[in-house]
Amino acid sequence: MFGAQLSLVVTVLLRLLAPAAAFTDAQRCASLASTNIDNVHSLDAFYLRANESYRVPAVCGKGLGADLLAQTSVNVCVVNVVYNTSLTSATRIEVWLPDSEEWYGRILGSGGAGLTGCVDYDNLRWGPSIHFATFGHDGGHDGTTGAAFAQSDEIIVDYATRALHVAALTSKLLVRAYYGRPHDKAYYNGCSNGGRQGVRNAHDYPDDFDGILAGAPALNLINQLAQGTIANLASHKLSDDDWVLVKKEVLRQCDGLDGLHDEIVTDPDACQFLPEVLLCQGAKRADCLSSEQVEAVRTIHSPLYGNSGELLAPRLDPGAELDDTVLWSIIFGPSFYGFALDWWRYVVYNDSSWEPSPDFGLKEIADADKREAEVYVSSFDPDLSAFCERGGKLLSYHGTRDILIPSGLSLWYYQRVQRALSLPPSAMDDFYRLFLIPGMNHCNLGAAASAWKIGQGGSSAWSNSSDSHALFALVDWVEHGAGPETLRGSTDGAVTRLHCKYPARSVWQPDAQDWTCVESQ
Ligand SMILES: *[C@@H]1O[C@H](CO)[C@@H](O)[C@H](O)[C@H]1NC(C)=O
Ligand SMILES: *[C@@H]1O[C@H](CO)[C@@H](O)[C@H](O)[C@H]1NC(C)=O
Ligand SMILES: *[C@@H]1O[C@H](CO)[C@@H](O)[C@H](O)[C@H]1NC(C)=O
Ligand SMILES: *[C@@H]1O[C@H](CO)[C@@H](O)[C@H](O)[C@H]1NC(C)=O
Repeated sequence: MFGAQLSLVVTVLLRLLAPAAAFTDAQRCASLASTNIDNVHSLDAFYLRANESYRVPAVCGKGLGADLLAQTSVNVCVVNVVYNTSLTSATRIEVWLPDSEEWYGRILGSGGAGLTGCVDYDNLRWGPSIHFATFGHDGGHDGTTGAAFAQSDEIIVDYATRALHVAALTSKLLVRAYYGRPHDKAYYNGCSNGGRQGVRNAHDYPDDFDGILAGAPALNLINQLAQGTIANLASHKLSDDDWVLVKKEVLRQCDGLDGLHDEIVTDPDACQFLPEVLLCQGAKRADCLSSEQVEAVRTIHSPLYGNSGELLAPRLDPGAELDDTVLWSIIFGPSFYGFALDWWRYVVYNDSSWEPSPDFGLKEIADADKREAEVYVSSFDPDLSAFCERGGKLLSYHGTRDILIPSGLSLWYYQRVQRALSLPPSAMDDFYRLFLIPGMNHCNLGAAASAWKIGQGGSSAWSNSSDSHALFALVDWVEHGAGPETLRGSTDGAVTRLHCKYPARSVWQPDAQDWTCVESQ
C-alpha cells in the first residue's frame, strides 16, 4: 500500500564518481550536499573531526545529554536529510560516514526506542569507530511523545516501518556517492521498539539488510502495550515496600531453581511463583499482602487471553520485578504507563485527556485493533520467508529480567516463525537465532551478578572477539556463514558467563563452578 511506489533516482555529480583518492574526505563530504535524491526535502553535509561535537537539529537524541551535543572518536562526514515520506509526513535521517580508509564496506542502520522520535546516537557514535558507515532516523516525528500520531496516519506508518526503509535506501545512495562504490553488506542494530523495527523490516523489506540484530523486540505491540497497562494498573495496589516483599519472595522461591543463589532466575518458565505465600492472616500488615494485593501480583504474572481463550500476550517473567533501573517505574511507578497512554490517546481515541479506566482490557484492545486495520503497527506476522530465502540473518536476544517486554514474547515469535516456515531447528539456525540472556534487563543493564554485556551496543562491547560480541558475531555469520552457537557475556570484563542459543538451556555445573549450554531435546 505504501513504499512500493517509492522510486529513488539518485543524480550524483560526475566528479563524485571519480576515484576516491582524487579528493580529500572533507572535500567529498562538502560535495555530498548537492546529491539529488527523490523525495528528499533537505540535505546537509559537513565534516566532523574526531572528538569534535555538534548540536543536532532535533528536540531529542537517544544517548545524548540535554545539550544535544553529538560526537564520535573518528572523523566522520555527517549528513542530515529530511525525507518526505508522503504529503503529510517526513522523516529525519542522519548518516555518519567514516573516512574512506577507515570504511570496511559495511553499513550499520539503527532504529528508535519507545515511541521513538529520537535518532539513535548510541549507534551513530559506535558504528564509525568500528568502521561502519552508520545511520539513524527519527521514525517519522521529532520528540519522545506520541502526540504527532494524531496529525496523520502517515506518521504512524513511518513509525511502524517506512521510516527505517527510506533511511536504508537513502543511506545506501549516500554511501555510494561518498566512497565511489556501493556497500558490500548492510546490517541493522536496534532494541525494544528498535528491535521491532528490525524484525518488521525483515518482513516488509527483506532486501534492506543482510544481517539484523534485534534486541527485546516490541513485537505484537498493541497487546504488549495493553498488557503493560494492565500490569501498571494492578501494580498501583502495592506500595514500594510491598514490592520489596514480593521481590524477596520471588528470590526465595525461584533464585535457587537453577542451582545457584545469585539473584538471577535463569529460566523464568521453571518458576511457578506463588504470591499466596505472602497473604496476611487477617488485616494487612507491613510484612504481608492483602488478598487484593496478592491478586494484583497474580494478574501481573499471568498471560493475557482474549475472549475465545487465545493468547494475546505472555506473562511478565517472574524475577523481572527485580529490575532496579529507571525502567521499573515505567510499569510499577505511580504514573500511568506512558507509552500505552499515548497510544490510546493519540492513535486510538484522538483524545489527549483520555485515561485508562480501572477495568482497562479487552474492550480497549478491540478499539486499538480497529485502528490496526488502518495503520498496521503490531508487527507479529511470522512469515519471514522472503528474508530467509534471500539469505538474510536475524540474530535476536532478550533479557529474562525485562520489565517492559517479557522474554516469552521473543520465544513465542520464534516458534511462530518456525511453524509458519515449517523449518526444523537446523534450518532455523541458518537464518534466525535467539539468545535469552539471564539477568539482563530491557536491552541493556542487568543484575549485578549477571553477564548482560554481549556487544549489543558500544557501551556493552567488553570484548572485540566475535564469540563475545553480538554485532561481530552477526558479521561473521553473514560474511563467513558461521552463526554463533553461544555468546559469552560479562558485566565487568572479568567474570564471564556463556549464554545459549535457543532451544539450548543454560545449566549450572557445580563441579566446574560454571554455566554450560545443554540441548533441550
Ligand atoms: C516536502 O514536504 C514539505 C511540506 O509539505 C513541502 O513544503 C516540500 O515541498 C516537500 N518537498 C519535496 C521534495 O517533496
Ligand atoms: C579522541 O578522544 C579519545 C578519548 O579521549 C582519545 O583516545 C583519542 O586520541 C582522541 N582522538 C583524537 C583524534 O583527538
Ligand atoms: C484529532 O483531533 C484533532 C483536533 O480535534 C484533529 O485536528 C485531527 O485531525 C484528528 N486526528 C485524526 C487522525 O482524526
Ligand atoms: C575494540 O575495537 C575498538 C576499535 O578498534 C577499540 O576502540 C576498542 O578499544 C576495542 N575494545 C576492546 C575491549 O578491545
